[in-house]
Amino acid sequence: MAITCDCPMTQPGPTLAATCGGGAFMLFMGLLEVFLKSQCDLEDPCGRTEFRQHMDSVYDFIVVGGGSAGSVVAARLSEVPEWRVLLIEAGFDEPTGTQVPSMFLNFVGSSIDWGYHTEPEPAACLGEKESRCYWPRGKVLGGTSVMNGMMYIRGSRKDYDSWAAAGIEGWSYDDVLPYFLKSEDNKQVDEMDPGYHATGGPLTVSQFPYHPPLSYSLVEAGEELGYSARDLNGEKHSGFMIAQTTNRNGSRLSAARAFLRPARRRANLHVLLNATATRLLVDRTTRHAYAVQLRDSFGRMQTVYANNEIILSAGAVASPQLLQLSGVGDPSVLARVGVPLVHKLPAVGRNLHNHVTHFVSFTINDNDTSPLNWATAMEYLLFRDGLMSGTGISEVTGFINTKYADPAGDNPDIQLFFSGYLADCAKTGMVGESRGNGSRTIQMFPAVLHPKSRGRIEIASNDPFAPPKIYANYLTHPDDVKTLIEGIKFAIKLSETKALKKYGFKLDKTPVAGCEKFKFGCDAYWECAVRMQTGPENHQAGSCKMGPRGDPTAVVDHLLQVQGIDRLRVADASVLPAVPSGNTHAPVVMLAERAADFIKQRWHEPYPPVNEGVSNVLTASESRHSARPWPYWA
Ligand SMILES: Cc1cc2nc3c(=O)[nH]c(=O)nc-3n(C[C@H](O)[C@H](O)[C@H](O)COP(=O)(O)OP(=O)(O)OC[C@H]3O[C@@H](n4cnc5c(N)ncnc54)[C@H](O)[C@@H]3O)c2cc1C
Ligand SMILES: *[C@@H]1O[C@H](CO)[C@@H](O)[C@H](O)[C@H]1NC(C)=O
Ligand SMILES: *[C@@H]1O[C@H](CO)[C@@H](O)[C@H](O)[C@H]1NC(C)=O
Ligand SMILES: *[C@@H]1O[C@H](CO)[C@@H](O)[C@H](O)[C@H]1NC(C)=O
Ligand SMILES: *[C@@H]1O[C@H](CO)[C@@H](O)[C@H](O)[C@H]1NC(C)=O
Repeated sequence: MAITCDCPMTQPGPTLAATCGGGAFMLFMGLLEVFLKSQCDLEDPCGRTEFRQHMDSVYDFIVVGGGSAGSVVAARLSEVPEWRVLLIEAGFDEPTGTQVPSMFLNFVGSSIDWGYHTEPEPAACLGEKESRCYWPRGKVLGGTSVMNGMMYIRGSRKDYDSWAAAGIEGWSYDDVLPYFLKSEDNKQVDEMDPGYHATGGPLTVSQFPYHPPLSYSLVEAGEELGYSARDLNGEKHSGFMIAQTTNRNGSRLSAARAFLRPARRRANLHVLLNATATRLLVDRTTRHAYAVQLRDSFGRMQTVYANNEIILSAGAVASPQLLQLSGVGDPSVLARVGVPLVHKLPAVGRNLHNHVTHFVSFTINDNDTSPLNWATAMEYLLFRDGLMSGTGISEVTGFINTKYADPAGDNPDIQLFFSGYLADCAKTGMVGESRGNGSRTIQMFPAVLHPKSRGRIEIASNDPFAPPKIYANYLTHPDDVKTLIEGIKFAIKLSETKALKKYGFKLDKTPVAGCEKFKFGCDAYWECAVRMQTGPENHQAGSCKMGPRGDPTAVVDHLLQVQGIDRLRVADASVLPAVPSGNTHAPVVMLAERAADFIKQRWHEPYPPVNEGVSNVLTASESRHSARPWPYWA
C-alpha cells in the first residue's frame, strides 16, 4: 500500500512581515521577503518544498525528526542507492526569512517554534510567570538549526576525553575530530589552526561577512585580560574570537540546506513534512524496533515499517518523550499516564541539563547607529553584506576560567556571549535597539559551561500531541550559582578595559525586580538576580544519555543503540552525556555523521570508518578535503 500525495506542499511558515509589528514596518518586511524570494537559487529554501510528499509502507531506514541531526543522518544514509530512507518531520520547510542571519530571534515564538515552557522551577526563572522558563526549539525542516545563532563551536578536547575516560569507547577528542572534519568546508582554513579544519564537506563554515566595529574591540578587551584571540576550535580552548558560523555567503546554512537539499532529487529518499511520529513499535519477543506510527498531513494515523533500523533524531525534548510514549522508560512514569511498559529503561528523560546564564546590560555611546533600513536592506540584497548578513556582536564569544576552573587544564568554565547591533525588528522596529541618539544598550551573558544541576523529562499524558513535562532544575546545585556569579564579575571587568573605553560602557544598575533589598553588586545580590532573571541557554542535552554498555544511567551505548532494544538508535543532542563546552549544533552534526557511519558499518559491510586517528587531517597548506569516505556515492 503506497500513500501518494505528490503535490508540492504550500509553505505556511511565517513571513518576515508576520514576525514584526507596526504597519509601515510590515510593508518594509513584506517587500524585503519578496526581494529575497526573487533572488533564490536552487540551493535556497525560499518556501519551495521540493521534497516529494510521498510515503510507501516499508523502508529500510526511518529517521524521526529532520533537525540538526536528522538532516545529516537521512542525507548520509540515502547516499547508498539501494537503501530506501524515510525522513519524518513535524514541521514544514524553512521560511524564506530565516535565511537572513540578523533575523534569527524573530522566529523564536513564531509558528516554527515548539515554544516549550518548563514546569515551575524551584530555584530559577523566579521572575517569569509561574517560574517557568521558556525553551525555543525549531519545528521545521532543519530543526533548531533554522533559528539558532549559527555559531560554530565544537567544545574542548577535555569534554570528549572525559567521555572516553568514563568508558564510552571511541569518543575521545582524537576519535571525534575526523567526524567534525568530514562535514566541514572551512572558507578561512588558512587563518585557523593547522590540523583542525577541512574543506570540501557540505557544511560551510566561515565568519560572517560583516563585523560591527565593537566586535573587534570586544576581542581586544579579552586580550587585555589575558585571553588570546584565537581559533577556539583548534589547539587551545581558552580565548576570544569573532566566531565562525554556519553561513554561506551571508545566508543561514541550516542543516537541512547543507545536507538534505543537495540530496532532494535522490529517488531513494522520501521526506514527509507536517507529519508527527506518535509511537515507535517494538516487538516484545525479539525486542527489535520495527515500525513508526505517525499522523500525516491529512490528519490520518499511519504505520510505516522499517526493514533495518529506526533512528530517533527528535531532539533533547522529543526523543525521550517518544521513547516514553512507546513504552520505553521508567515504569513508574509510564504507569502514571497509562502507557503499557514495553522495555524498562529508567534512564530515559533523566540527566537533562543545559548551560545557564544571566544577562548584564550596559549603555554605550555609539554614533554609528546603523539601523535596519533601506540602506542596510539594499546592502544585504545586492552584496549579502552589512549588518543583516550577521548577528551583530552575538558573533563574538570568549571562553574564560573563573577561580573555580583548573588554570592549567585549558577547560574553561564560562563562555561569554554578547548581544547588540542586531538589525531585526524584534524590539523597537526600524532602529533596532539603537536609540538613534548616540546611545544604545548591549548585553553580556556569561554561561556556566559545566552545569552540575540535573533535570528530567516526563510525559504528561499518553497523548502524543501534549507537550511533556520539563523539569530543568536550573541552579539547584550551588556550584552553578557560584560559577555564574564569577562570570558576571568577569563581564563587568571586561566592560572596564581600555579597549572599550571609547564606548563609555555604563553598567545598568537598576536592580532586578525582587532583588531590591540586596546591595547592588554583592554576591547575595547576584545570587538573587540569577535566580529571578535566569537565562536558559539553548543547549539542552543529556536526556537519552550515551554510556558504556550496561550503564544503568545510560539510554544508548557507544554506537548510539538503545540499550536492550535492537535496530533502534538515538542521534541528537539528547545522547550527549555531558553538554560540551560551547554551542551544540556542531557537536550534534558530528555525532549524526558518526551515527550514519555506525549504521553503514553494520548494514553495508565492509564499510570503513571515515579515517583512523587524525592522520588524514589537512594541514593549513592543503586546500581540498582529502578524507572522502569510501564508498562515496553522492
Ligand atoms: C535561539 C537558539 C540559538 C541557538 N544558537 C546556537 C548557536 O549559535 N550555535 C550552536 O551551535 N547551537 C545553537 N543553538 C542550539 C542548537 O541549534 C541545537 O542544539 C541543535 O540544533 C539541536 O539539534 P537536534 O538535532 O538535537 O534537535 P533539533 O534541531 O531541534 O531537531 C529535532 C527535530 O525533530 C522534529 N520533531 C520533534 N518531534 C517530532 C515528532 N514527534 N515527529 C516528527 N518530527 C519531530 C522537530 O520538529 C525538529 O525538526 C541554539 C538554539 C536556539 C533555540
Ligand atoms: C498539516 O497537518 C494537519 C494534520 O496533522 C492538517 O490539519 C493540516 O491541514 C496540514 N497542513 C497542510 C498545509 O497540509
Ligand atoms: C560619538 O561622538 C562624540 C561627540 O561627537 C565623541 O566624543 C565620541 O567619541 C563618539 N563615540 C564613538 C564611539 O565614536
Ligand atoms: C554572494 O551573494 C552575492 C549577492 O547575491 C553575489 O553577488 C556573490 O557572487 C555571492 N558570492 C559568492 C561567493 O557566492
Ligand atoms: C537617548 O535616548 C534614551 C531614551 O530615549 C535616553 O534614555 C538617553 O538618555 C538618550 N541618550 C542621549 C546620549 O541623549
